[in-house]
Amino acid sequence: MQLPGYYEFCSRVKMIAGHNALEQIPEALLALKAEKPLIITDKGVAAVGLIKQVTAAMNKTKKGTKVKIGATYDNVPPDSDITVVNEVAKLYKSKKCDSIIAVGGGSVLDTAKGANIVVSENATDLMQYSGYGAIKRKLNPTIAIPTTSGTGSEMTLVAVIADHSKNIKMVFGSYFLLPDYAIIDSRMTKTLPASITAFTAMDALTHAVEAYTCLGKNPVSDAMAMSAIQLITQNVVNVVKKPNDMDGRLALANASTMAGIAFSNSMVGMVHTLGHATGGVCHVPHGICMNILLPYGLEYNMHKTGNYIGELLYPLAGEEVYNSTPKKDRPTKTVEQIRKLIQDLHDATGGRHPRWFKEVYDRDGNLMVPREKLPDIAKTAMSDASQFYNPEDLDYNDFLWVMENAWEGTPLDRKKVKKG
Ligand SMILES: [Fe+2]
Repeated sequence: MQLPGYYEFCSRVKMIAGHNALEQIPEALLALKAEKPLIITDKGVAAVGLIKQVTAAMNKTKKGTKVKIGATYDNVPPDSDITVVNEVAKLYKSKKCDSIIAVGGGSVLDTAKGANIVVSENATDLMQYSGYGAIKRKLNPTIAIPTTSGTGSEMTLVAVIADHSKNIKMVFGSYFLLPDYAIIDSRMTKTLPASITAFTAMDALTHAVEAYTCLGKNPVSDAMAMSAIQLITQNVVNVVKKPNDMDGRLALANASTMAGIAFSNSMVGMVHTLGHATGGVCHVPHGICMNILLPYGLEYNMHKTGNYIGELLYPLAGEEVYNSTPKKDRPTKTVEQIRKLIQDLHDATGGRHPRWFKEVYDRDGNLMVPREKLPDIAKTAMSDASQFYNPEDLDYNDFLWVMENAWEGTPLDRKKVKKG
């Protein structure tokens, strides 16, 4: 596959990672010349005591430092909206805060980024900052604390914010949207249920694998991706079986952040394209879509990017398997290895980790992706921008064919893959 002759890479978020990283928040705020942060989170994160943990750690401030929490907003919904962003910004201003601490997953981080645009730019219409490059200067200090090991949002320069009244989603992209600090603490994911631990880790794995195999790949993202893949495959099944494996939890959190750095500098591919479409049409959680679709994306692209797929066998299966597998067989062995990981997670969760779309049910026992919805998903995928970095082109029929196989659980018949 033909790669561009140059690349750009930027990752200027300062990471503080460890079993007791939260205790460094006051120092981080002082380094940013901030002393009155607004904490932004969601009800779920607050309910499991994670905000208490953050504030307790902050209270261990060294003598002489002056950090005081300005206010806490804990009502960010899973699919954040411009109304929420404006509410958060209003609270920030009324409490005279000078910085933001975002504790949560992708929606919390996106809300924090949107609110920071409003308060830093004194904006009355957030819309005028949408698109890429509309933000021209440094925003107010922000610290991101992820509570899942999956999205990597703490390392991405994009925010997606819906305007439900107009039924649209606005995308904001700027290096100024990168947080100043990412605090990665193993305690933040300790209460994650086994099934969420499993599928968020598979989202991180997909970020790393697609970063390594898509058209935007570059040597620096490659290094991050390889290391992330190794950490995930060495730890995820054990953490799912033993939730108190804190070293394993920290490894997954580090991997998620590294995978975030990798893909935000190289992009993703068709696994995310179809995942976004399936999430949009059938509301299947993103990580579940990634978990199911990852082997299919690799099978589809193998004729274009087989060498790179083969190289992934090393971090996925280890030195012995890599060395004993002939080079020509490594790409298919990589896919086998990922399918084995999916099966291992299925077994480790007592069958709650779905392998195919026909196994995905909601809490009320309803099939989330009825087979008749597959054409809608294929149609929606056509307008998703992630496909532009996929090694092989896809049209409607290709998307539908991949989805039919991923629904049924049958590997792709590689002889039928269109070779453009
Ligand atoms: Fe993702």
